[in-house]
Amino acid sequence: MLKAIIIIGGPQKGTRFRPLSFEVPKPLFPVAGVAMLQHHIEACAQVPDMKEIILIGFYQPNDELNRFISSSQQEFKIPIRYLQEFAALGTGGGIYHFRDQILSGGPAAFFLMNADVCSEFPLQEMLRFHRQHGENHCGVLLGTTANRTQSLNYGCIVENRETNEVLHFVEKPSTFVSDIINCGIYLFTPDIFGHIGKVFQRNQQERIQEELTNGKQMPEVIRLEQDIFTTLAGQKKLLVYKTQHFWSQIKSAGSAIYASRLYLKQYHQTHPERLATNRDGTPKIIGDVYIHPTANIDPSAVVSTLTTTYINICFCIVLNFFISLQLGPNVSIGKGVTIGGGVRVRESIILHGAVLQDHCCVLNSIVGWDSTVGKWARVEGTPSDPNPNDPYAKIDSETLFRDGGLTPSITILGCNVSIPSEVIIRNSIVLPHKDLNRSFQNQIIL
Ligand code: GDD
Ligand code: GTP
Repeated sequence: MLKAIIIIGGPQKGTRFRPLSFEVPKPLFPVAGVAMLQHHIEACAQVPDMKEIILIGFYQPNDELNRFISSSQQEFKIPIRYLQEFAALGTGGGIYHFRDQILSGGPAAFFLMNADVCSEFPLQEMLRFHRQHGENHCGVLLGTTANRTQSLNYGCIVENRETNEVLHFVEKPSTFVSDIINCGIYLFTPDIFGHIGKVFQRNQQERIQEELTNGKQMPEVIRLEQDIFTTLAGQKKLLVYKTQHFWSQIKSAGSAIYASRLYLKQYHQTHPERLATNRDGTPKIIGDVYIHPTANIDPSAVVSTLTTTYINICFCIVLNFFISLQLGPNVSIGKGVTIGGGVRVRESIILHGAVLQDHCCVLNSIVGWDSTVGKWARVEGTPSDPNPNDPYAKIDSETLFRDGGLTPSITILGCNVSIPSEVIIRNSIVLPHKDLNRSFQNQIIL
């Protein structure tokens, strides 16, 4: 019997995801039309003999999480539970704290996954690989190749190429170690808890000592990467299974747009019914587009006039373009979204309840829940895609500021933002509940 654990973090995490993570826990943010976590759950549910999925995090249980869990249980016909840590215990501390629950029923092995990754989740391949490699090891790490520079942002793995044994593991090294990086997706046998237990005991003694001498409470954090993998590397206890399939981290909002693109592409094989198609009386679909069945999209928008408004300068060029409403490529339209005639959306996520009024244009942006983009307005960001000429490039989840300025990035409208007609919002982040009255660029609008 097998189980799967997904570590979902908590409210202090996901800071690079603001302001979107104010409204919904980051793991529930929709990627290609469904919650980020649903992609993990779906992959787990397909593994034969999978008995339970456990989510571990330090979010207070809330309605949204509970609703998600009960609807996923029904959809995927598998028990799913949320276990709440009393504090952030780290990537290894949470699973150690709940080890009895994980081991109840006697699973032969369990998968562990970071919530903030998108992947084809080659779980069954990992399982085969684990079984082919005998009994000695207690963990298989999923690895992928990154370029030399970007590898420094991940856990780096040096392997024995013949045996696939992990020889060294360094978390976010400062100089190049290896181009094989840790995907944050693992398969462990129950033996892993023996190794975490040793670290826990050692830390416990240090904690007691520290409390006695300085009266300082030390957190009980155990980091799987630094505290466990680094020690177990070179002891024939860990193996690496390298995947050629897609994989990306989801740290910033920009990386959610990129992850959506990867999952939408995968839908051709896994969920063709989720992809919108070109039919009479529907908008023109370009490339991969997801439209929630409840979205209200103007079907009559066949002929329209395109106005291009120019930044802050009140001159409008009215071009008599004959264009229809166009969606795509890489667009996800959420529940109850309303889209007017002549609208153009590309490389964007439109969250539930948003309204895109006639002829507006949304490019490389996330439009927040219940926000409104006025007629002829333009909301535009700069994509942060990985270098298309480098097969091993990953998305850079840059910090918000560079050289004293806002890094050009996708435009994000928080929830319930109102953009008036005929303005341009470019490379900006608009915090929730703002009523803008003019154009902005390269700004955080507080
Ligand atoms: N429950 C719980 N408790 N979850 C946590 C905690 C915690 O205290 N701390 C982190 N997590 C979850 C996060 O929600 C996320 O899903 C995952 O653990 C890893 O988060 P980080 O600690 O922010 O690490 P990282 O993403 O920078 O790096 C990790 O992932 C990379 C791949 O994306 C490492 O495992 C790297 O080695 C790896 O390359
Ligand atoms: P393509 O490569 O053809 O997509 O165009 P582009 O990359 O040269 O143009 P851009 O990225 O500026 O715009 C992408 C799409 O949005 C184009 O198809 C334009 O027709 C459309 N578009 C641009 N500005 C507006 C606008 O203000 N309103 C509407 N409705 N559409 C617009």
